[in-house]
Amino acid sequence: MEISVIGAGYVGLTTAACLAELGHEVRCTDNDAEKLNMLRAGHMPFFEPHLDEIVKRNFASGKLQYVASEEAILQSQAIFICVGTPPLANGEADLSAIEAVARNIAHLAHGYRLIIEKSTVPVQTARRLKQHLGTYLSNGLDYDVVSNPEFLREGSAIGDFFHPDRIVVGADSRRAIALMKQIYQPIVEKSFRCPVHSKCKNDATVSFLVTDTNSAELVKHASNSFLAMKISFINMVSDLCEAAGADIEKVAEGIGLDRRIGPAFLQPGIGFGGFCFPKDLQAFVRIAETFGCDFALLKDVENINRARVQRFVAKVKKELWILRGKKIAVWGLAFKPNTDDIRFAPSLEIIRSLIESGARIRAYDPQAIERAKKEIPEIVACDSLYQAAEGAEAILLLTEWGEFMEADWARLATLVDRPLVFDGRNCLNPQEVTAKGFQYFGVGTASMAAVEFSQTAAD
Ligand code: UDX
Repeated sequence: MEISVIGAGYVGLTTAACLAELGHEVRCTDNDAEKLNMLRAGHMPFFEPHLDEIVKRNFASGKLQYVASEEAILQSQAIFICVGTPPLANGEADLSAIEAVARNIAHLAHGYRLIIEKSTVPVQTARRLKQHLGTYLSNGLDYDVVSNPEFLREGSAIGDFFHPDRIVVGADSRRAIALMKQIYQPIVEKSFRCPVHSKCKNDATVSFLVTDTNSAELVKHASNSFLAMKISFINMVSDLCEAAGADIEKVAEGIGLDRRIGPAFLQPGIGFGGFCFPKDLQAFVRIAETFGCDFALLKDVENINRARVQRFVAKVKKELWILRGKKIAVWGLAFKPNTDDIRFAPSLEIIRSLIESGARIRAYDPQAIERAKKEIPEIVACDSLYQAAEGAEAILLLTEWGEFMEADWARLATLVDRPLVFDGRNCLNPQEVTAKGFQYFGVGTASMAAVEFSQTAAD
């Protein structure tokens, strides 16, 4: 099918490239002409595993083109709207970019268009879009508006696109539903060549859920809010574990073994970040308010998350006492591994707070160091986890990158000034670290005596 994608940001570019990989003819456009030129020249605007190769392959074959917005609107049967919906000061989503795209489509297009809302938007946006298009159409446009929320996680977006748990389509016409089925048919029927795994064994069924547009829009906000709630819940339980002398890893395992709960998103730490969870949570609270519902539960989820940073900093201060002039190594800046995204990353807040107290930060991240250095110029940007550790009085692990789990602790012991490690993601092996002489602090773990006991019991 001939498809256009408006917005070449994280969601738009990923969607465009993956749709081309499925065999569609895709035209991708963006307001930012510089970005389109950069893509034409083979440069990626951000890092996402496997995206680079898919983008380049499909651009070379002509399946993916970067075009002006007029061409995108005139040439395609289906138009995915993937423009940004950033938060306004009051937490509501700013829908002005979506409105502008809709008006452009209404002015330019003639004949039938399937208009697909992919950006995260408040409930009833598709309804408003439909009215809006009707108000502004001037060239004989016939159209359906569909809500098709994205559930792509940064760092695993390609796998998520090709192997989703579900594809949600909010539509109110048979024609629109039939076209959406056609677009996603290769994924539902598993008839595509997986670009991530050479021998893909993923044969889990993909649910294709058809709803009304309001319900599809709510699925997105409700899913992200529920996941954020799981994280804040486990973080509160982890605080209780610390206070009562229990081990959160065991508690989370015990909770997650209940199939009604499941083990995912029960990893305690320094709190959730990224561009989606904090923004979507706030927006959902505001949306609920608009409809007269006080979603107090979600306000608590936010408050708990906000408190994680200060709790972690307090732990560091308790051990180091005076921070002024002390070197602290920070491992990990991205809001999670496999991305260079530092937006709303708890690591940056932790660093700012430590710098305010006079600490000198030596930071390392496999992908995000340059972005972080621009954001906080006071940090010393290091090329490796070992360089960051040189002369440090504490190592703070803030993002669970794989390479940190393979660190050579004997070598690190020779580099640091004081062998002290705060594992903000509970991803290190405390036995291994302490065996090399380091004092280890995890999140929600009992004293080392208890960790040793649980290890002995497990043996
Ligand atoms: C999220 C949703 O998962 C995705 O479906 C949606 O489309 C966009 O928002 P993303 O923001 O990429 O994706 O990150 P995700 O992997 O969901 O993690 C969000 C944050 O939660 C990260 O900061 C992560 O470190 C934190 N997290 C996650 C935890 O602290 N504990 C967990 O158990 C899981």
